Amino acid sequence: MIETIQQLRTVIEQDLAMIHDAASLETFRLKHLVKKGTLQELVDQLRTIPKEEKPAIGKVLNELRQFVESSIASAKESIEHQHSGIETIDVTLPGLLPAIGHVHPIRQTLDRIVDIFAGMGFSVAEGIDIEDDYHNYEALNFPADHPARDMQDTFFIDDAAGDVMLRSHTSPVQIRMMKYHAPPIRSIMPGRVYRNEAVTARSLAEFHQVEGLYIDKGVTFADLKGTITSFAKQMYGESLIFKFRPSYFPFTEPSAEVDINCYLCSGKGCKVCKHSGWLEICGCGMVHPNVLRNCGIDPDIYSGFAFGFGIERVTMLATGIDDIRALYENDMRVLRQF
Ligand code: PHE
Repeated sequence: MIETIQQLRTVIEQDLAMIHDAASLETFRLKHLVKKGTLQELVDQLRTIPKEEKPAIGKVLNELRQFVESSIASAKESIEHQHSGIETIDVTLPGLLPAIGHVHPIRQTLDRIVDIFAGMGFSVAEGIDIEDDYHNYEALNFPADHPARDMQDTFFIDDAAGDVMLRSHTSPVQIRMMKYHAPPIRSIMPGRVYRNEAVTARSLAEFHQVEGLYIDKGVTFADLKGTITSFAKQMYGESLIFKFRPSYFPFTEPSAEVDINCYLCSGKGCKVCKHSGWLEICGCGMVHPNVLRNCGIDPDIYSGFAFGFGIERVTMLATGIDDIRALYENDMRVLRQF
């Protein structure tokens, strides 16, 4: 009899290993634990064995019943655990895509600009955001009280001398380049600039410029036009319609601005181009002899040109965004498109 009980235990252990869900657990229970189950069958056989052997065999049988009951309880628990999702990994589920960021459209534009000018031999130079009056204005041929200072409404920093400010353009980097590097100089100077202007669909109080500077012997206005034209065609495509228009900057003489055909209305006139059909993208000119002199460069030997772009403006043209503020709101519905 003891042997039969041992055999049943082996069968029960094998069956236990097969339990993996509620249905197989129920099959196991029905096979072993119910009234017509295997255990009860052996209990019934107890009647046929001699009286003195009954207690010992009864004890072994009882142990086996307890083993089956506790195994069923723990199998049940682990099946319920699986269903509540705790500590289970369904390897067949599709994975979650990690949220990967991407380069902001303004940075994408800057990278493209740097790339194009690097291809024409320009290096990249950077300056500082907080400047003094000398580098932001004076050395650039803006005498004190000159009305041209009103072209750029400046944020001054509250200090005793009153000559510290957030740079209103990247041109102070030109001064630093010319003062500390001997010609030939061929650099672009990207950076953040600040102006005390009302924030509108076309302008911000804080934005980015890329300035360019080329100083060498015999540099002419033709070089300036060739460089800007080559840049504009690489940036906007060969079919771009653009024009150079005479302008004024204290630090360049002669000066010009470059307008391109409005990308929104194709030149018919709209809100963005103020109904002119043209959008100004760039200021430029031949570096003023006074500026060269201020930086210790002899204007009788060297000449050069400078130009400056607003990066946000270029980004608007490249993306078709018609409100400059959309570039700073970090609205994912906008940013995801570029
Ligand atoms: N610094 C000028 C501005 O911000 C742009 C410019 C740069 C014009 C270089 C001419 C030459 O308006």
